[in-house]
Amino acid sequence: MENKFHSLLDYIQRKSSFHCQYYKEKPLSRRIRVRMRALHLDEYDQYMRYLIDNPEEMEVLLETLTINLSYFFRNLETFDYIRDTLFKAMSGTHKRLVVWSAGCAHGEEPYSLAISAAQSGVLDRMIIYATDIDHKALGVAQEGLYDTFAFQYTPRHILDTYFKKQDSKYRIMSVIKERVRFCYADLFDKPPFGGCDLIMCRNVLIYLDRPAQSAILKNFYEQLQPDGYLVIGKVELLIGIPEVKLFEIVNRAEHVYKKRF
Ligand SMILES: C[S@@+](CC[C@H](N)C(=O)[O-])C[C@H]1O[C@@H](n2cnc3c(N)ncnc32)[C@H](O)[C@@H]1O
Repeated sequence: MENKFHSLLDYIQRKSSFHCQYYKEKPLSRRIRVRMRALHLDEYDQYMRYLIDNPEEMEVLLETLTINLSYFFRNLETFDYIRDTLFKAMSGTHKRLVVWSAGCAHGEEPYSLAISAAQSGVLDRMIIYATDIDHKALGVAQEGLYDTFAFQYTPRHILDTYFKKQDSKYRIMSVIKERVRFCYADLFDKPPFGGCDLIMCRNVLIYLDRPAQSAILKNFYEQLQPDGYLVIGKVELLIGIPEVKLFEIVNRAEHVYKKRF
């Protein structure tokens, strides 16, 4: 069973760019089993055979593995803090601002950051890079059209101000959209930009093992400006990771860190 599972992971890793070895095994096996159930397959080796015979299944599997559930203004208090404290402080300068939403899913998070920046008056000199490894999710993000499901934590006045109703859906307004650049980038690689004032990476690290979390924190450290901020998810704890010393905590409740230098 163990061996069959690991052979399957090896196969997935060889045939795709998904680094199975860095992800925690329990969530991985749970997600693989979702696909196996859908195909009425019981054993990992049967599923591997299926992947070999049906290469198009790899894309469906990768979509299942990346778990791209997200919402606009997920953990609203975090966005309140970013708007009222971090962006407010940045509004006192005239410099160009660079923000990175790392693991952006369908764009809910980078668009929420852009809206918060608009509310703080800093959006017109900000570029928000939004990256993910899920091509399909990036396509949805670029389209910018969402079901009401995505707005369960969004205050009504934000929905009315920054979105346009289109049948039963909502489209992000172009003044927000044009400040966000979506691109494919793996968190384990150096992104095609740097000098970030703020990096937000939430609900991604939780799926990764400690060596992978360390590597990604180091990458974030290198991409941040000397006084840049890092925001991680409310559910994520950086315990036992040496790279955490590279950052000082500035808001414990909202999991906001500042680069030490
Ligand atoms: C659960 S969603 C989180 C979305 C958003 N950050 C939030 O908190 O609502 C996790 C996202 O991370 C992406 N992801 C997972 N591993 C990644 C990697 N190695 N590099 C870039 N993105 C990754 C997934 O594709 C998915 O879209």
